[in-house]
Amino acid sequence: MPLLVGCVSEQSTLHPAGEDAAAIADLFWVMAAGTVVIWLIVMGITVYAVLGRKRPKTERFADRFILIGGVAFPTITLAALLIFGLALLPDWVRSDRPDLRVHITAEQYWWRVAYEMPDGSLANTANELHLPAGQTAEFVLNSTDVIHSFWIPNLGGKMDVIPGRTNLWRLKPTEAGVYRGVCAEFCGPSHALMAFPVVVHEPDGFEAWLAGEAAGVEERRGHALFVSTGCGACHAVRGTSADGAVGPDLTHFASRRTMAAGTLPIAPENLQGWLVDPSHHKPDVRMPGYASLEETERDALVSYLLNLE
Ligand code: CUA
Repeated sequence: MPLLVGCVSEQSTLHPAGEDAAAIADLFWVMAAGTVVIWLIVMGITVYAVLGRKRPKTERFADRFILIGGVAFPTITLAALLIFGLALLPDWVRSDRPDLRVHITAEQYWWRVAYEMPDGSLANTANELHLPAGQTAEFVLNSTDVIHSFWIPNLGGKMDVIPGRTNLWRLKPTEAGVYRGVCAEFCGPSHALMAFPVVVHEPDGFEAWLAGEAAGVEERRGHALFVSTGCGACHAVRGTSADGAVGPDLTHFASRRTMAAGTLPIAPENLQGWLVDPSHHKPDVRMPGYASLEETERDALVSYLLNLE
């Protein structure tokens, strides 16, 4: 039974669901069929030689046999396989834009995954890959520690992930489904424990998934700003590093009816205005203004605060 585990199609080169994997499967079957034919011929000759116990009639016959069987046949067969194999190789250098770019960073023993959004921002996730069927995805592969290898057998070949070097790798899934990706380069005791599910969606389903995934990007940026700008020195948000006790506690801020002690209803534009100049709304207030931040940075902070429900 353990022998059959390799046959489960969720992780199999021989159940292709991508263009490159289909080429690899074709090559495998052609070689397997050729090997069977050659094996049968060799076995036939062996059996004939053992049972027939016939010696070649002439030396000329033996010479010709060696020339054809030992030189001509392997040369022609191997040359044909080489040509067939070269034609199946993916294009290594491509200048056309992929439909989607995903940054993958391998670490002992997990995968950082970041989707490049149209505006250039990154939607971060980990240990699971989602791809649209029928579109070319380019993977930007980096490692933070040792050499790993990125491999989704159902979609195509593998590519090494090397520290200090960026490797690019493209795959084009053709069939929706759930597959299994693995690390294919021994990288330490838990090398076998860094797999990742790969969900190939129909294009519409993928767009919906990505939109949901990107929804938190602005908030996360806002949270990072909340910390780096020092908001947490005065305000507390339970469950985060912000534990200041000088100003109002902002935990569940978005579920309140008003802000600034009944001064303003909670709304994005009011928060923007407050962040620019609190004393405009509330003379002599102790909170300083943050007009020095970029408007987009204040937008991110607003998005973070409005999600503190
Ligand atoms: Cu990472 Cu093996």
